[in-house]
Amino acid sequence: MSIRKKRLAILTGGGPAPGFNAVIYGAAKAALDAGWEVLGIRDGWKGVLDGRTMELDYTAIEGIQIRGGTILGTSRTNLAKVKVGKQTVDKIAEGAGLIREMGLDALIANGGEDTISVAERLWQEHQIPVICTPKTIDGDVCGTERTYGLDTAANWVGRAIAGLHEDFASTHYVAVVEVMGRKAGWLPLYGGIAGGAHMILVPEFPRTIEDICQNVARIYKQFGYCIIAVAEELNMDDLAGHISESGGADNFGHAQIALREKGWAKVIADEIVERIKLGARPVVLGHAQRGGPPSAFDVAMCLQLGQTAFTSALHGVFGKLISWQGEKPVPVDLALAGGGKTRQVPRELYEALIATLP
Ligand code: F6P
Repeated sequence: MSIRKKRLAILTGGGPAPGFNAVIYGAAKAALDAGWEVLGIRDGWKGVLDGRTMELDYTAIEGIQIRGGTILGTSRTNLAKVKVGKQTVDKIAEGAGLIREMGLDALIANGGEDTISVAERLWQEHQIPVICTPKTIDGDVCGTERTYGLDTAANWVGRAIAGLHEDFASTHYVAVVEVMGRKAGWLPLYGGIAGGAHMILVPEFPRTIEDICQNVARIYKQFGYCIIAVAEELNMDDLAGHISESGGADNFGHAQIALREKGWAKVIADEIVERIKLGARPVVLGHAQRGGPPSAFDVAMCLQLGQTAFTSALHGVFGKLISWQGEKPVPVDLALAGGGKTRQVPRELYEALIATLP
């Protein structure tokens, strides 16, 4: 009589982040070593609805841990809000039924706060045996000290900004560099610092346009050019109406910033031209920030997050986020990370780093 192998499924949801593949590798390798069968669900929660899976054996995962993107594909499908014609339908119960039909002993759902909030409902309302890991270059997942992708992206942003100095010092322009990160300033702050930006604007600590222009004029007088790293979301009441939200919202209700006709870099550059009569150029770094191979730190962290997610499954401990705390993986309740909470840059960190700028 053959005994059915235990079955693990893994999915990746939301925007890609370097480290996704290393988490898949860490979890799948540990599960295969333990004699489990491993499935990948394609394109996040969308693949649950469509029933699209792939086998993850040793050959399928060979070498993926050092590659960017995700071999499983991803989507922003929200099981709680699925578009059916003109209606928006809550398909959490249907998704739970489909996951049950897959005969899974565990599901590892990797993603940011959005993916985690769906996982949390599947666990709370339908006891789907799910475990999550905290992905995002935005760094905004609660319940963890780190999210994967941020370190890699911040290094990339740093190099991109560093590369602008010679150009702007030669042309005597002001660069207004727009950096991803949504409503959290982790990426603009770390990337801006790594690139030697002269000013960094983040949503957590708003400044007025008068104050910004005065500071630009002072720095420009001193160096003959100025580089500002600007978060893609800012809380500037005086200029909020200048942003065009033509992109609408995604399935989780977030503004689709990449589809904006006019974002914060352009708005601030225009104000600089008008108010202090300096040449200013908006530079939108875009999706290249999320690409490329993960940093050594992200690979090492993600392999351990994936391994620990599987160990948790092996011990029958579900409804957990494998967070990163004190330089090691620590399971915490999903409720700490879901529910629309955003982890923001603390004042002490912001003030310490901003004090180092000219
Ligand atoms: O993954 C998060 C994020 O990188 C945000 O920083 C950015 O605004 C958004 O994704 C872009 O998403 P999309 O891929 O839908 O353009």
